[in-house]
Amino acid sequence: MGDDVGGTCGRERKGRGMIAVVGSANMDVVTEVVRMPHPGETVAGRALRHYPGGKGANQAVAAARVGGSVSFYGKVGRDAYGERLLDAMRADGVDVAGVEIAPDAATGTASIWVEDTGENAIACVPGANGAVDRAYVDRVLARIAGARVLLLQLEIPLETIGYLLDRLPRERPLVVLDPAPARDISRLRLSRIDVLTPNETELHSLTGISDTARAARSLLADGVRTVVCKAGERGAFCFGVATYHVPPFHVQVVDTTAAGDAFNGALAVALADRPLEQAIRFANAAGALATTKPGAQPSLPWRAEVEGLLALEKRA
Ligand code: RIB
Repeated sequence: MGDDVGGTCGRERKGRGMIAVVGSANMDVVTEVVRMPHPGETVAGRALRHYPGGKGANQAVAAARVGGSVSFYGKVGRDAYGERLLDAMRADGVDVAGVEIAPDAATGTASIWVEDTGENAIACVPGANGAVDRAYVDRVLARIAGARVLLLQLEIPLETIGYLLDRLPRERPLVVLDPAPARDISRLRLSRIDVLTPNETELHSLTGISDTARAARSLLADGVRTVVCKAGERGAFCFGVATYHVPPFHVQVVDTTAAGDAFNGALAVALADRPLEQAIRFANAAGALATTKPGAQPSLPWRAEVEGLLALEKRA
């Protein structure tokens, strides 16, 4: 099919086992509601829960649960939330030795409403995530540069992402960037992004173009090598050397939080041993499974569950 992402970048990555994630860690404070309140309105909540989250930490855990050897890089505050987030990642086998404590900031938090349909709304206070800066990148760059895949999102300063992309050596990891939450990435060195994984809303907001295919092609024209658009219950669309649709998995949705993170973590792992189209299929299965349970990290599936869903679809 000619869509092998490693092949598109023309670099040999065999023998590099590790996935590096540079990103955010948040404590998610989740209120379950029947429906979202309108501005000025009060609605009754069913329950208030705390879950380990943050797009970076979620993607690290997602990759580890489907079999990746993962190191997470970022910052937390010197507080109880920070300790809980690090413990949660350690429990899933994620190496957090490179994480630093930000002396003057609290651990990042996300206030989340989840309604009965499974839809959510999120407001993040970055806290220590905002202190992931150039100096930190300089301290951990050598370790990151040796990874097979580098997973990035946009919950740490954009300036830091830009610096990291610029500083990667010629022999660099495969870079997968999840542009979430959507921000203006036009000043990043887009030719260093091997796979960009926006959802449809992010794709349109990144480009100002409402047609998915046209929006993706404009990013390709700007230098991104492959765009994989996550389309939720419609699956995913890939634009790059080849253009195709990867069908969805149909599941009972409980909470969509971290479905995109499950997708990205699984994609990073699957890219090691299968062509891109099959890796997207594996990632679609992981993303779908993450919507069937509440919370961010508690909802992320293990490899056996993902393979179980893939096998089920094959038999159907
Ligand atoms: O992608 C889901 C995550 O977004 C949540 O865990 C929350 O922390 C926000 O960062």
